[in-house]
Amino acid sequence: MIAKIQELLAEVEQLQASNVDEVEALRIKYLSKKGAINDLMADFRNVPAEMKKEVGMKLNELKNKAQEKIAALKEAVETQDTGADDMDLTRTAYPISLGTRHPLTIVKNEIVDIFSRLGFTLAEGPEIEDDWHVYSSMNFADDHPARDMQDTFFVEARPDIVLRSHTSSVQARVMEKQQPPIRVICPGRVYRNEAISARAHCFFHQVEGLYIDKNVSFTDLKQVLLLFAQEMFGKETKIRLRPSYFPFTEPSAEMDISCNICGGKGCSFCKHTGWVEILGCGMVDPAVLEANGIDSSVYTGYAFGMGIERITNLKYQVKDLRMFSENDTRFLEEFTSAN
Ligand code: PHE
Repeated sequence: MIAKIQELLAEVEQLQASNVDEVEALRIKYLSKKGAINDLMADFRNVPAEMKKEVGMKLNELKNKAQEKIAALKEAVETQDTGADDMDLTRTAYPISLGTRHPLTIVKNEIVDIFSRLGFTLAEGPEIEDDWHVYSSMNFADDHPARDMQDTFFVEARPDIVLRSHTSSVQARVMEKQQPPIRVICPGRVYRNEAISARAHCFFHQVEGLYIDKNVSFTDLKQVLLLFAQEMFGKETKIRLRPSYFPFTEPSAEMDISCNICGGKGCSFCKHTGWVEILGCGMVDPAVLEANGIDSSVYTGYAFGMGIERITNLKYQVKDLRMFSENDTRFLEEFTSAN
Protein backbone atom coordinates (compact mmCIF):
# COMPACT_ATOMS: atom_id res chain seq x y z
CA MET A 1 0.00 0.00 0.00
CA ILE A 2 2.81 2.36 0.92
CA ALA A 3 4.45 1.64 -2.40
CA LYS A 4 1.25 2.47 -4.25
CA ILE A 5 0.92 5.75 -2.32
CA GLN A 6 4.53 6.67 -3.14
CA GLU A 7 3.91 5.93 -6.76
CA LEU A 8 0.84 8.20 -6.82
CA LEU A 9 2.70 10.95 -4.97
CA ALA A 10 5.37 10.96 -7.66
CA GLU A 11 2.73 10.97 -10.33
CA VAL A 12 0.86 13.91 -8.77
CA GLU A 13 4.05 15.98 -8.63
CA GLN A 14 4.40 15.66 -12.40
CA LEU A 15 0.82 16.56 -13.37
CA GLN A 16 0.40 18.97 -16.26
CA ALA A 17 -2.68 20.60 -17.81
CA SER A 18 -3.10 23.18 -20.51
CA ASN A 19 -6.79 24.00 -20.16
CA VAL A 20 -9.74 23.87 -17.78
CA ASP A 21 -11.05 20.60 -19.21
CA GLU A 22 -7.77 18.84 -18.64
CA VAL A 23 -7.66 20.06 -15.03
CA GLU A 24 -11.16 18.76 -14.46
CA ALA A 25 -10.18 15.37 -15.92
CA LEU A 26 -7.29 15.18 -13.41
CA ARG A 27 -9.58 16.15 -10.54
CA ILE A 28 -11.91 13.32 -11.48
CA LYS A 29 -9.06 10.86 -11.87
CA TYR A 30 -7.50 11.57 -8.45
CA LEU A 31 -9.91 13.38 -6.16
CA SER A 32 -13.46 12.39 -7.05
CA LYS A 33 -15.49 9.75 -5.22
CA LYS A 34 -14.38 7.13 -7.70
CA GLY A 35 -10.87 8.58 -7.96
CA ALA A 36 -7.59 6.86 -7.22
CA ILE A 37 -7.18 8.38 -3.75
CA ASN A 38 -10.67 7.43 -2.59
CA ASP A 39 -9.99 3.88 -3.75
CA LEU A 40 -6.97 3.78 -1.43
CA MET A 41 -9.08 5.23 1.42
CA ALA A 42 -11.52 2.36 0.95
CA ASP A 43 -8.64 -0.14 1.19
CA PHE A 44 -7.41 1.55 4.37
CA ARG A 45 -9.59 -0.64 6.63
CA ASN A 46 -7.66 -3.74 5.46
CA VAL A 47 -4.36 -2.27 6.62
CA PRO A 48 -3.00 -4.12 9.69
CA ALA A 49 -3.50 -2.08 12.90
CA GLU A 50 0.22 -1.56 13.54
CA MET A 51 0.64 0.02 10.06
CA LYS A 52 -2.45 2.21 10.22
CA LYS A 53 -0.68 5.26 11.62
CA GLU A 54 2.08 5.35 9.01
CA VAL A 55 -0.20 4.52 6.09
CA GLY A 56 -2.81 7.03 7.31
CA MET A 57 -0.25 9.83 7.39
CA LYS A 58 1.05 8.99 3.94
CA LEU A 59 -2.45 8.82 2.59
CA ASN A 60 -3.27 12.26 3.98
CA GLU A 61 -0.08 13.64 2.54
CA LEU A 62 -1.03 12.27 -0.88
CA LYS A 63 -4.53 13.74 -0.67
CA ASN A 64 -3.23 17.19 0.34
CA LYS A 65 -0.54 17.17 -2.35
CA ALA A 66 -3.08 16.19 -5.00
CA GLN A 67 -5.50 18.91 -3.88
CA GLU A 68 -2.77 21.53 -3.86
CA LYS A 69 -1.37 20.51 -7.22
CA ILE A 70 -4.73 20.43 -8.96
CA ALA A 71 -5.75 23.78 -7.43
CA ALA A 72 -2.47 25.25 -8.68
CA LEU A 73 -3.00 23.87 -12.18
CA LYS A 74 -6.54 25.27 -12.21
CA GLU A 75 -5.33 28.71 -11.22
CA ALA A 76 -2.65 28.57 -13.90
CA VAL A 77 -4.96 27.72 -16.78
CA GLU A 78 -7.58 30.25 -15.68
CA THR A 79 -5.15 33.14 -15.69
CA GLN A 80 -3.45 31.98 -18.85
CA ASP A 81 -2.26 34.79 -21.09
CA THR A 82 -4.99 35.29 -23.70
CA GLY A 83 -2.91 37.66 -25.75
CA ALA A 84 -5.22 40.55 -24.80
CA ASP A 85 -2.27 42.56 -23.56
CA ASP A 86 -0.70 42.52 -27.02
CA MET A 87 -3.69 44.25 -28.63
CA ASP A 88 -3.20 47.83 -29.62
CA LEU A 89 -6.56 49.36 -28.83
CA THR A 90 -5.54 52.73 -30.22
CA ARG A 91 -4.99 51.36 -33.70
CA THR A 92 -7.54 52.46 -36.29
CA ALA A 93 -10.06 49.81 -37.33
CA TYR A 94 -9.72 48.00 -40.62
CA PRO A 95 -11.98 49.73 -43.14
CA ILE A 96 -15.06 47.62 -43.89
CA SER A 97 -15.68 47.74 -47.61
CA LEU A 98 -19.31 48.57 -48.24
CA GLY A 99 -21.26 47.01 -51.06
CA THR A 100 -22.59 49.18 -53.85
CA ARG A 101 -26.04 49.38 -55.29
CA HIS A 102 -26.41 47.77 -58.68
CA PRO A 103 -26.61 50.38 -61.45
CA LEU A 104 -30.01 49.03 -62.51
CA THR A 105 -31.27 49.44 -58.96
CA ILE A 106 -29.92 52.99 -58.79
CA VAL A 107 -31.73 53.92 -62.00
CA LYS A 108 -34.90 52.03 -61.08
CA ASN A 109 -35.04 53.90 -57.77
CA GLU A 110 -34.56 57.18 -59.58
CA ILE A 111 -37.40 56.43 -62.03
CA VAL A 112 -39.73 55.29 -59.25
CA ASP A 113 -38.81 58.37 -57.25
CA ILE A 114 -39.73 60.76 -60.07
CA PHE A 115 -43.12 59.13 -60.59
CA SER A 116 -43.76 58.92 -56.83
CA ARG A 117 -43.50 62.68 -56.71
CA LEU A 118 -46.31 62.77 -59.30
CA GLY A 119 -48.56 60.62 -57.10
CA PHE A 120 -47.83 57.18 -58.57
CA THR A 121 -47.67 54.32 -56.08
CA LEU A 122 -45.60 51.19 -56.39
CA ALA A 123 -47.13 47.90 -57.59
CA GLU A 124 -45.38 44.61 -58.23
CA GLY A 125 -46.42 41.25 -59.63
CA PRO A 126 -45.03 37.75 -60.15
CA GLU A 127 -42.36 36.92 -62.73
CA ILE A 128 -43.90 33.51 -63.37
CA GLU A 129 -47.29 34.45 -64.77
CA ASP A 130 -50.27 32.93 -66.48
CA ASP A 131 -51.15 33.55 -70.09
CA TRP A 132 -54.19 35.60 -69.06
CA HIS A 133 -52.25 38.34 -67.24
CA VAL A 134 -49.39 38.55 -69.75
CA TYR A 135 -51.32 38.26 -73.01
CA SER A 136 -55.09 37.65 -73.08
CA SER A 137 -56.09 40.39 -70.64
CA MET A 138 -53.78 42.75 -72.55
CA ASN A 139 -55.71 42.20 -75.76
CA PHE A 140 -53.17 39.99 -77.54
CA ALA A 141 -54.90 37.93 -80.24
CA ASP A 142 -54.54 34.17 -79.88
CA ASP A 143 -52.18 34.06 -82.84
CA HIS A 144 -50.11 37.12 -81.86
CA PRO A 145 -46.44 36.41 -82.62
CA ALA A 146 -45.29 37.51 -79.13
CA ARG A 147 -46.98 34.40 -77.75
CA ASP A 148 -44.64 32.36 -79.91
CA MET A 149 -41.93 30.17 -78.43
CA GLN A 150 -39.39 32.39 -80.14
CA ASP A 151 -40.29 35.19 -77.76
CA THR A 152 -41.74 33.57 -74.69
CA PHE A 153 -40.30 31.17 -72.14
CA PHE A 154 -42.89 28.61 -71.10
CA VAL A 155 -42.80 26.69 -67.88
CA GLU A 156 -42.25 23.10 -68.84
CA ALA A 157 -45.41 21.06 -69.41
CA ARG A 158 -47.63 24.10 -68.73
CA PRO A 159 -48.41 25.95 -71.98
CA ASP A 160 -50.49 28.46 -69.98
CA ILE A 161 -47.69 29.42 -67.55
CA VAL A 162 -44.92 31.70 -68.80
CA LEU A 163 -42.09 33.89 -67.60
CA ARG A 164 -43.62 37.32 -68.12
CA SER A 165 -42.27 38.99 -71.25
CA HIS A 166 -43.31 42.47 -70.14
CA THR A 167 -44.46 44.22 -66.97
CA SER A 168 -47.85 45.02 -68.55
CA SER A 169 -49.08 41.91 -66.71
CA VAL A 170 -48.90 43.97 -63.52
CA GLN A 171 -51.45 46.39 -65.03
CA ALA A 172 -53.90 43.48 -65.21
CA ARG A 173 -53.09 42.43 -61.64
CA VAL A 174 -53.80 45.95 -60.37
CA MET A 175 -56.98 46.46 -62.41
CA GLU A 176 -58.54 43.19 -61.26
CA LYS A 177 -58.19 44.29 -57.63
CA GLN A 178 -58.80 48.01 -57.80
CA GLN A 179 -61.26 50.39 -59.43
CA PRO A 180 -60.08 53.81 -60.73
CA PRO A 181 -58.57 56.15 -59.93
CA ILE A 182 -55.49 53.99 -60.48
CA ARG A 183 -52.03 55.51 -60.65
CA VAL A 184 -49.25 52.92 -60.34
CA ILE A 185 -45.64 52.45 -61.31
CA CYS A 186 -44.51 48.83 -61.71
CA PRO A 187 -40.83 47.97 -61.90
CA GLY A 188 -39.72 44.39 -62.51
CA ARG A 189 -37.70 41.79 -64.37
CA VAL A 190 -38.98 40.37 -67.65
CA TYR A 191 -37.86 37.47 -69.83
CA ARG A 192 -37.62 36.98 -73.58
CA ASN A 193 -36.24 34.10 -75.53
CA GLU A 194 -33.33 35.95 -77.13
CA ALA A 195 -29.77 34.88 -77.82
CA ILE A 196 -27.47 36.64 -75.34
CA SER A 197 -25.20 39.26 -76.88
CA ALA A 198 -23.89 42.75 -76.13
CA ARG A 199 -27.21 44.19 -77.28
CA ALA A 200 -29.79 41.61 -76.17
CA HIS A 201 -30.33 39.40 -73.14
CA CYS A 202 -32.85 36.75 -72.18
CA PHE A 203 -33.89 38.82 -69.18
CA PHE A 204 -33.98 42.54 -68.58
CA HIS A 205 -35.92 45.07 -66.54
CA GLN A 206 -38.83 47.34 -67.23
CA VAL A 207 -40.85 50.00 -65.50
CA GLU A 208 -44.50 50.19 -66.39
CA GLY A 209 -46.78 53.11 -65.61
CA LEU A 210 -50.58 53.09 -65.58
CA TYR A 211 -53.02 55.90 -64.92
CA ILE A 212 -56.77 55.39 -65.17
CA ASP A 213 -59.41 57.92 -64.15
CA LYS A 214 -62.20 60.01 -65.64
CA ASN A 215 -61.05 62.32 -68.44
CA VAL A 216 -57.47 61.12 -68.74
CA SER A 217 -56.17 62.23 -72.12
CA PHE A 218 -53.15 61.86 -74.36
CA THR A 219 -52.10 65.39 -73.34
CA ASP A 220 -51.75 64.19 -69.73
CA LEU A 221 -49.55 61.36 -70.92
CA LYS A 222 -47.33 63.62 -72.98
CA GLN A 223 -46.93 66.12 -70.15
CA VAL A 224 -45.99 63.47 -67.60
CA LEU A 225 -43.46 61.89 -69.99
CA LEU A 226 -41.88 65.26 -70.77
CA LEU A 227 -41.52 65.97 -67.08
CA PHE A 228 -40.01 62.52 -66.54
CA ALA A 229 -37.50 62.94 -69.38
CA GLN A 230 -36.37 66.32 -68.07
CA GLU A 231 -36.08 65.14 -64.47
CA MET A 232 -34.11 62.10 -65.57
CA PHE A 233 -31.87 63.59 -68.25
CA GLY A 234 -31.86 67.33 -67.61
CA LYS A 235 -34.05 70.37 -68.26
CA GLU A 236 -32.80 70.84 -71.82
CA THR A 237 -34.05 67.38 -72.88
CA LYS A 238 -36.61 67.32 -75.69
CA ILE A 239 -39.07 64.53 -76.44
CA ARG A 240 -40.82 63.40 -79.58
CA LEU A 241 -43.62 60.88 -80.01
CA ARG A 242 -43.84 58.62 -83.04
CA PRO A 243 -46.99 56.63 -83.87
CA SER A 244 -46.60 52.95 -83.07
CA TYR A 245 -48.61 49.86 -82.29
CA PHE A 246 -49.18 47.81 -79.11
CA PRO A 247 -52.14 45.44 -78.66
CA PHE A 248 -53.04 47.05 -75.31
CA THR A 249 -52.94 50.75 -76.22
CA GLU A 250 -54.78 52.76 -78.85
CA PRO A 251 -53.48 55.11 -80.05
CA SER A 252 -49.92 54.00 -79.32
CA ALA A 253 -46.61 55.80 -79.58
CA GLU A 254 -42.91 55.38 -79.07
CA MET A 255 -41.09 58.17 -77.35
CA ASP A 256 -37.62 59.42 -78.28
CA ILE A 257 -35.54 61.86 -76.28
CA SER A 258 -32.90 64.16 -77.69
CA CYS A 259 -29.68 62.17 -77.33
CA ASN A 260 -28.20 63.17 -73.99
CA ILE A 261 -24.79 61.81 -74.93
CA CYS A 262 -24.14 64.19 -77.86
CA GLY A 263 -26.80 66.75 -76.90
CA GLY A 264 -28.71 66.00 -80.12
CA LYS A 265 -25.80 66.74 -82.48
CA GLY A 266 -25.46 63.12 -83.56
CA CYS A 267 -23.17 60.37 -82.27
CA SER A 268 -22.75 56.63 -82.61
CA PHE A 269 -25.14 55.98 -79.70
CA CYS A 270 -28.05 57.76 -81.46
CA LYS A 271 -26.85 56.51 -84.84
CA HIS A 272 -26.27 60.14 -85.83
CA THR A 273 -29.97 60.99 -85.65
CA GLY A 274 -29.80 63.06 -82.47
CA TRP A 275 -32.69 61.03 -80.99
CA VAL A 276 -32.91 57.84 -78.93
CA GLU A 277 -36.00 55.78 -78.30
CA ILE A 278 -36.66 55.19 -74.61
CA LEU A 279 -40.23 53.95 -74.17
CA GLY A 280 -43.54 52.75 -75.55
CA CYS A 281 -46.81 54.31 -74.49
CA GLY A 282 -50.42 55.01 -75.42
CA MET A 283 -54.01 55.28 -74.27
CA VAL A 284 -55.20 52.05 -72.65
CA ASP A 285 -57.29 50.21 -75.23
CA PRO A 286 -60.96 50.13 -74.10
CA ALA A 287 -60.89 46.36 -74.73
CA VAL A 288 -58.21 46.07 -72.03
CA LEU A 289 -60.28 48.10 -69.56
CA GLU A 290 -63.32 45.91 -70.21
CA ALA A 291 -61.34 42.65 -70.00
CA ASN A 292 -60.15 43.78 -66.57
CA GLY A 293 -63.53 44.82 -65.19
CA ILE A 294 -63.32 48.59 -65.70
CA ASP A 295 -66.13 50.47 -67.42
CA SER A 296 -64.63 51.97 -70.57
CA SER A 297 -67.60 54.30 -71.05
CA VAL A 298 -66.68 56.06 -67.78
CA TYR A 299 -62.92 55.77 -67.59
CA THR A 300 -59.93 56.32 -69.83
CA GLY A 301 -56.29 55.83 -69.07
CA TYR A 302 -52.74 55.86 -70.33
CA ALA A 303 -49.88 53.42 -69.95
CA PHE A 304 -46.21 53.48 -70.71
CA GLY A 305 -43.34 51.04 -70.40
CA MET A 306 -39.59 51.47 -70.57
CA GLY A 307 -36.49 49.31 -70.33
CA ILE A 308 -34.32 50.13 -67.31
CA GLU A 309 -31.17 48.87 -69.06
CA ARG A 310 -31.72 51.36 -71.86
CA ILE A 311 -32.16 54.30 -69.48
CA THR A 312 -29.08 53.14 -67.56
CA ASN A 313 -27.08 52.96 -70.78
CA LEU A 314 -28.05 56.50 -71.59
CA LYS A 315 -26.99 57.67 -68.14
CA TYR A 316 -23.80 55.64 -67.78
CA GLN A 317 -22.98 54.46 -71.30
CA VAL A 318 -22.60 50.81 -70.50
CA LYS A 319 -21.60 49.29 -73.83
CA ASP A 320 -22.40 45.65 -73.18
CA LEU A 321 -25.70 44.47 -71.65
CA ARG A 322 -24.00 41.39 -70.24
CA MET A 323 -22.13 43.58 -67.75
CA PHE A 324 -25.37 44.02 -65.83
CA SER A 325 -25.64 40.35 -64.92
CA GLU A 326 -22.03 39.21 -64.59
CA ASN A 327 -21.48 40.60 -61.09
CA ASP A 328 -17.96 41.73 -61.91
CA THR A 329 -17.08 43.80 -58.86
CA ARG A 330 -14.76 46.03 -60.91
CA PHE A 331 -17.83 47.13 -62.86
CA LEU A 332 -20.16 47.35 -59.86
CA GLU A 333 -17.67 49.38 -57.81
CA GLU A 334 -17.75 52.12 -60.41
CA PHE A 335 -21.20 53.02 -59.10
CA THR A 336 -20.13 53.51 -55.47
CA SER A 337 -20.66 57.26 -55.50
CA ALA A 338 -23.93 57.04 -57.43
CA ASN A 339 -25.69 55.35 -54.49
N1 PHE B 1 -45.21 46.37 -72.79
C1 PHE B 1 -44.53 47.11 -73.83
C2 PHE B 1 -43.22 46.39 -74.17
O1 PHE B 1 -42.85 45.51 -73.45
C3 PHE B 1 -44.23 48.51 -73.43
C4 PHE B 1 -45.48 49.34 -73.24
C5 PHE B 1 -46.07 49.43 -72.00
C6 PHE B 1 -46.04 50.00 -74.29
C7 PHE B 1 -47.20 50.19 -71.81
C8 PHE B 1 -47.17 50.75 -74.13
C9 PHE B 1 -47.75 50.85 -72.91
O2 PHE B 1 -42.57 46.70 -75.12
